[in-house]
Amino acid sequence: MSEQPCDSSAPTLFTWEFATDPYPAYAWLRDHAPVHRTTLPSGVDAWLVTRYADAKKALADPRLSKNPQRHSAAAHAKGKVGIPGERSAELMTHLLNIDPPDHTRLRRLVSKAFTPGRVAEFAPRVRTLTDQLIDAFEERGEADLIHEFAFPLPIYAICDLLGVPREDQDDLRDWAGMMIRHGSGPRGGVARAVKRIRGYLAELIHRKRGDFGEDLISGLIRASDHGEHLTENEAAAMCFVLLFAGFETTINLIGNGVYALLRNPEQRAHMQRAVEEGDERLLAAGVEELLRYDGPVEIATWRFATEPLTLAGQRIAEGEPVLVVLAAADRDPERFAAPDVLDLTRRDNQHLGYGHGIHYCLGAPLARLEARTAIGTLLRRLPGLRLAADPEDLRWRGGLIMRGLRTLPVTWNST
Ligand code: HEM
Repeated sequence: MSEQPCDSSAPTLFTWEFATDPYPAYAWLRDHAPVHRTTLPSGVDAWLVTRYADAKKALADPRLSKNPQRHSAAAHAKGKVGIPGERSAELMTHLLNIDPPDHTRLRRLVSKAFTPGRVAEFAPRVRTLTDQLIDAFEERGEADLIHEFAFPLPIYAICDLLGVPREDQDDLRDWAGMMIRHGSGPRGGVARAVKRIRGYLAELIHRKRGDFGEDLISGLIRASDHGEHLTENEAAAMCFVLLFAGFETTINLIGNGVYALLRNPEQRAHMQRAVEEGDERLLAAGVEELLRYDGPVEIATWRFATEPLTLAGQRIAEGEPVLVVLAAADRDPERFAAPDVLDLTRRDNQHLGYGHGIHYCLGAPLARLEARTAIGTLLRRLPGLRLAADPEDLRWRGGLIMRGLRTLPVTWNST
């Protein structure tokens, strides 16, 4: 690792307090150590990039590879970056772990099948799913919005879009749940879930090859670029990344977003009015601001230096991991006026919540559709919505990759 001046006043990262509110620590880092070397809970040393301008540069820097094989300590740290035992497995050779030219080829192929038009056509289905989830708890007058709403919506939505038969969707929901629950716990649970998903996807893709439909998996298999098609492994890895890149992220965008609204009554009233008046523009702008203000992706942007380089004056050696802290960059006062204030009408809101550069979130149109539908429908159908717990008692699933609430108890009774 390259040297970094030691500062004993540096905040302690990755604690319970940090998961609850990482923003003071991020402010300190932006001010005092904008490219900061730290030891991750896994024991791996990495650089954290926290200022907006540096983050944007790093996300688009071709000298920073997404391929975990470029990690200098990869041989020793097997299991510490990514999913244990799966790093080199075919399922992990997906868009988020590869560089050009492979990335360019695969992204072009998937973009032919996963188009904004296909997502837009899917809007009625997302509305139906959202309404069904609310129907299930509306009468009760209370719910846990994470488990009963934010968790099932994205997994059922992406399963439908991909063409996973309805009778199999609960299995995928359970495996996905295992991945989230074990994400920061015993690694064996994740590996087991991934193994089941791998087996299932291989079998499903095989079935679709024999019987094409109108779904996204059929589209992926059929998509060709200069006569080139996805191989069977590439198709499975693509389905895997589509299933999971948009799962916990969307849960947290809905959960963190609703929570932020409930904690900011004026902004919530603003959003409520927009929903009641059918002001789609404000709803869309509001969802972008919720993503900037408390986005789901903290640090999940692994990159590895392919050569020695300098970032914001800091020397980074070849093979060292660089993690761009999107949530810190999106609160940078150099870029956003009053960054710690939630302002749904904020202008010039070019946040980095969906990343930047060639790996910019492929699923952003779907995520936006789901978040707008979920938050809009919730406020419209349950206008009395309010928090049913002391914020102090809420627990955050924190840390390195995503940040979101474990539960979000709410009620909407007038009593
Ligand atoms: C990439 C965020 C939802 C699919 C990314 C990246 C970010 C991100 C930050 C770039 C990571 C990097 O540069 O290292 C989010 C957020 C979401 C969301 C905040 C929800 C609120 C989705 C959904 C899907 C999806 C719903 C798909 C159905 C992908 C894929 C990539 C990606 C495939 C990799 C693109 C590439 O490497 O070329 N996302 N995402 N995401 N996202 Fe999303």
